[in-house]
Amino acid sequence: MRNEKEKDLLLKAVDGYRRRLIIVSDEQKIIASNYDRDTDNPDEIIGKFCYEFIYNCAEPCADCIARRTIETRKPYNHMEYIGFKRVKKERCRYSYPIEDGDEIYSAVVMDYEEPGIREMEHQLRRSNAFLHNLINSAVDGVIAADMNGKIIIFNDAAAEITGYTVDYALEHLDIRRAYPSGVAEEVMRLLRSDEYGGQGKLKGYRADGMNKDGHVMPISLNAAIVYEGDNEVATIGFFHDLREILEMQSKLRKTQIQLLQAEKMSSLGKLAAGVAHQLNNPLGGIMLFAKLILEDYNLPDGAMEDINRILRDAQRCSDTVKELLEFARQTRREMQPLDINKSLSRTLFLLESQTIFHNIIIQCNYDPNLPVIPADSQQMNHVFMNIILNAADAMDGNGKLSISTGQVPENDRIFIEISDTGCGIPDHILPHIFEPFFTTKGEGKGTGLGLSMVYGIIESHGGRITVESDQENGTKFRIELLKHQDGGPQS
Ligand SMILES: Nc1ncnc2c1ncn2[C@@H]1O[C@H](COP(=O)(O)OP(=O)(O)OP(=O)(O)O)[C@@H](O)[C@H]1O
Ligand SMILES: [Mg+2]
Repeated sequence: MRNEKEKDLLLKAVDGYRRRLIIVSDEQKIIASNYDRDTDNPDEIIGKFCYEFIYNCAEPCADCIARRTIETRKPYNHMEYIGFKRVKKERCRYSYPIEDGDEIYSAVVMDYEEPGIREMEHQLRRSNAFLHNLINSAVDGVIAADMNGKIIIFNDAAAEITGYTVDYALEHLDIRRAYPSGVAEEVMRLLRSDEYGGQGKLKGYRADGMNKDGHVMPISLNAAIVYEGDNEVATIGFFHDLREILEMQSKLRKTQIQLLQAEKMSSLGKLAAGVAHQLNNPLGGIMLFAKLILEDYNLPDGAMEDINRILRDAQRCSDTVKELLEFARQTRREMQPLDINKSLSRTLFLLESQTIFHNIIIQCNYDPNLPVIPADSQQMNHVFMNIILNAADAMDGNGKLSISTGQVPENDRIFIEISDTGCGIPDHILPHIFEPFFTTKGEGKGTGLGLSMVYGIIESHGGRITVESDQENGTKFRIELLKHQDGGPQS
């Protein structure tokens, strides 16, 4: 048995003990406690329910350790988890049984710090900070959400891709709003199925995301469901914006098509030049001898008519041969300083009077400071004439033709844009329009040599020609030509 002195010292030790100690009855009332002489008022502690005093709650806690100790006569402890990101430090509580005759009480020690717990907390906080940095420095967007859609992780890349701030996303964003309608549900369905990378996982899935402004963007998504036991507790997704990659792929595809086109044009050009040369001499002979017959013989009217017909058709063949040679760049170019604005005006002047242009509104926007460039004026007229005639055909004589010129800011070129509000060029036709003899016009209406010639002329000038077309807005041809013959500054 302890003597009075020992009891007194023990009581003092308990009072001086730096942690709160309370003795709880089976009614969960506090019947004793240690006191801090400076701050404690025993009346505010003794007689209160433990849950009132500890948690300021009106109801007993569901997992009350004091009650469990009283019921089982065993010690228990309770430790709150330390949450991720927002570190929550909670006190630990231990309860020990105190038996007093038949009575059993629980002694609850609060705020008990086990030696090393601080170190554990410190390490946990450090690894939390490390994880946080890791997730934040990821190039991919990382978003985790609980099963109600509330965002619990949102890294800087996710903020950059979606346009939401991290704070806003954590406070207000629902994961479903990061996708167009129905997509989040579909992602969940796929996550739960084993279609993409096994159940609970989604690998390299091409989905649509939605940014803050409501714009849909293509994303590549790797996602997983986070389980606790068998329960789904969260989802986490790693994603990146595919817009740049898709744009690059499309540019690459266009360049490949252009290269193919250039190759095809070059071999067709050689073939055409060969055929044209072969035809040129006999054609010259046909025309010469037909003219001689007309002059030298006194032929009846019917025969004269036939010979004239031969001459006209031979002339048409000769024109086609000339165009072919032009296309194959076998004719000589005469490069002279040329004012492109004037050249366009001249072409328009010739065309405007034709019936097909009567109901076409022509809008010109010429750059008054356009420099004079080295070009073959005859060939340029051909180019503009062909493109403008095609535009008029496409608009069926009704619509708007816009022509503009300017200087390309980033290089040493000028540009000419000719657009129409016509029928547009269907996607499957677009890759063929510069091919010789490609035409969609009926027999006798088009030879299909117009644009192939245009292409050949622009190429031989060191320029380039591109086309954009859609069936709603019409077609736009853009030509770029060098300001100086060698592409460098003029000496
Ligand atoms: N502005 C345009 N709008 C719609 N389609 C166009 C346009 N320009 C060209 N095309 C299409 O490209 C095809 C080829 O044009 P191209 O000028 O080479 O030949 P064509 O006009 O048919 O015949 P040609 O010019 O030899 O008389 C046309 O048949 C047409 O289908
Ligand atoms: Mg044409």
